[in-house]
Amino acid sequence: MMGVAIVNLKTYPGGFGSRGVELAKELESAAAGHDVTVALAVQAVDVRLFSEAVSLPVFAQHIDSATAGGNTGAVLPEALAEAGASGTLINHSERRLALAEIEAAVRRARECGLHTVVCSNNEATSAAAAIAGPDYVAMEPPELIGGNVSVTNASPDVISRTVALVRRTAPAVGVLCGAGVKSRADVARAIELGAEGILVASGIVLAADPAAAMADMLSGFER
Ligand code: G3P
Repeated sequence: MMGVAIVNLKTYPGGFGSRGVELAKELESAAAGHDVTVALAVQAVDVRLFSEAVSLPVFAQHIDSATAGGNTGAVLPEALAEAGASGTLINHSERRLALAEIEAAVRRARECGLHTVVCSNNEATSAAAAIAGPDYVAMEPPELIGGNVSVTNASPDVISRTVALVRRTAPAVGVLCGAGVKSRADVARAIELGAEGILVASGIVLAADPAAAMADMLSGFER
């Protein structure tokens, strides 16, 4: 299976609007020639801007399960799809949702043809998220998010146990891992542990040379 690398631009200063688009173009060039699906997770307000500027799949960072109608302020799945989104993250340690909302958001995203990645913070929530039937569960221990120690070094067992649990619970759902992922070695270890890929933010967005950081990480998918 082809590897997956999703870059979450969060609300970092260089990750939205016109500066974010420049970054996205650099990452698009860095991703060329690698046999890895690279997607960018952007703020909902930026989905159209990014999807018109680059050919990489653009994900929203959040979606609501609202239906078209009287829902002021909701991020509507249909509107994201029309704006050019390929998919969406759902739930995150920085944007927590209740289980019922996660399930509803996965269903609504799928109705609108959007790929889904549910982020989770431990093995139990990964298994629960997998039952909702997303394309991927992305396991990220919250205490390691944004830090310099990769989950693949700090908690390799959590990744392998999550992979085993998700395979048993919902074999069609893939596992990504994230939190502190910074290098080729971190990515290679994630793959060894059974993950299909990574969800990464600061290691790329805050890097002195984001394109070089991206190229280094993508080389970790090569056997
Ligand atoms: O969504 C990805 C994220 O939470 C991981 O962040 O900065 O540890 O790569 P980071």
